[in-house]
Amino acid sequence: MTGRPLVLHVTGARPNFPKAAPVIQALRTHDVEQLLVHTGQHYDDRMSQVFFTELGLPRPDVDLGIGSGTHAGQTAAAMVGLEEVMTTRHPALVVVYGDVNSTVAAALVAAKLHLPVAHVEAGLRSFDRTMPEEVNRVVTDRLSDLLLVTCADAADNLRAEGVDPAAVHLVGNPMIDTLLRHRGRLDQERARSEVGLAAEGDYVVATLHRPGNVDDREHARRAVATLHQVADHCPVVLPMHPRSRPRLLDVGLLDHPGIRPADPLGYLGFLSLVQGASVVVTDSGGVQEETTVLGVPCLTLRPNTERPVTITHGTNALTTHAELPAAVASRLAAGRPAAGSTPVPPLWDGHAGPRIAAVLAGSVGAA
Ligand code: UD1
Ligand code: UDP
Repeated sequence: MTGRPLVLHVTGARPNFPKAAPVIQALRTHDVEQLLVHTGQHYDDRMSQVFFTELGLPRPDVDLGIGSGTHAGQTAAAMVGLEEVMTTRHPALVVVYGDVNSTVAAALVAAKLHLPVAHVEAGLRSFDRTMPEEVNRVVTDRLSDLLLVTCADAADNLRAEGVDPAAVHLVGNPMIDTLLRHRGRLDQERARSEVGLAAEGDYVVATLHRPGNVDDREHARRAVATLHQVADHCPVVLPMHPRSRPRLLDVGLLDHPGIRPADPLGYLGFLSLVQGASVVVTDSGGVQEETTVLGVPCLTLRPNTERPVTITHGTNALTTHAELPAAVASRLAAGRPAAGSTPVPPLWDGHAGPRIAAVLAGSVGAA
């Protein structure tokens, strides 16, 4: 026992890791002890371990190994494991990230143990309760004592829900800290050759994993038809999330020579490809943000986004299946915007981690 306040971080799924890394790093300069719990919601090496290695995250102190399941099964398994850890370790603060099932599980357990909760990436709203992430965001924010927001509209959403403004801190985007920190390591040439692309020429990177796009056979068929239309213009590299892979393959994804399927890529390999792409097509939350900072045109295949700041201050646009092929063609014709010519949201500057760490340390009375 050091007597220093214990800050317990809970991560579980791929998008959590680039958000947690800069916070954990920045907290090392404060007088706190840290404990990293990985719920094991994501467990394939390519969905989990590769991020620990590439981002220099510490090995988790506890891996709950909950694995996959239904929403209730997965959330409950995480809660049971987290309850034991929190009851044994008595953290002064529990820090949760993003909007996955592990996030809401941790917030629920901590709140019932009367432990303060800090939510990194609070306040984002798609206003679409059919998305499981929206339910997780609303519940997590409701239970959180500290709400760390990436952008002003997230603070507005919380204010409209009656959250005490004193609990809300506009700190910027820690996922962008990670991107800017590792940007110099991106290697487009290598990434192209690893997915079988020629050294020159346009290509599109696509990622699809939202249940609304891939779960149902008809939706998957429609997504594949749309990707085939895009592949008529130029090669489409598709690193496939394990959720999507069987469904997309089953409805004929590979029946077009322009589709370049890939396993989920590591962080550096993926962002190297994104950086060199002419256009990105996605339904990912994080990728909308990363393309904005890299200045790569992004077309989000969803009816809404919880990240409207990437449209107002970035390169993102929402699109439908019917509109997507023409939208890609027009961006290919226009060419990539000149470097630095697209806007970036305020405070997405690589220093969110230290700002968050200062708020967290202050809340537990640590220097
Ligand atoms: C989860 C998050 C989603 C996030 C996404 C990031 C929830 C409700 N959803 O969705 O918000 O955008 O992570 O990638 O928390 N699987 C594997 N190996 C793994 C992980 C998953 O094969 O390492 C497969 C399993 O078949 C599993 C399926 O993917 O059933 C879905 O995994 P799950 O964690 O339930 O949800 P995601 O779709 O990954
Ligand atoms: N990502 C990755 N490899 C891939 C696809 C995505 O490293 O093959 C990274 C991406 O750059 C971002 C994070 O994973 O940092 C986003 O995760 P995901 O799209 O799974 O989740 P979401 O942001 O939609 O919740």
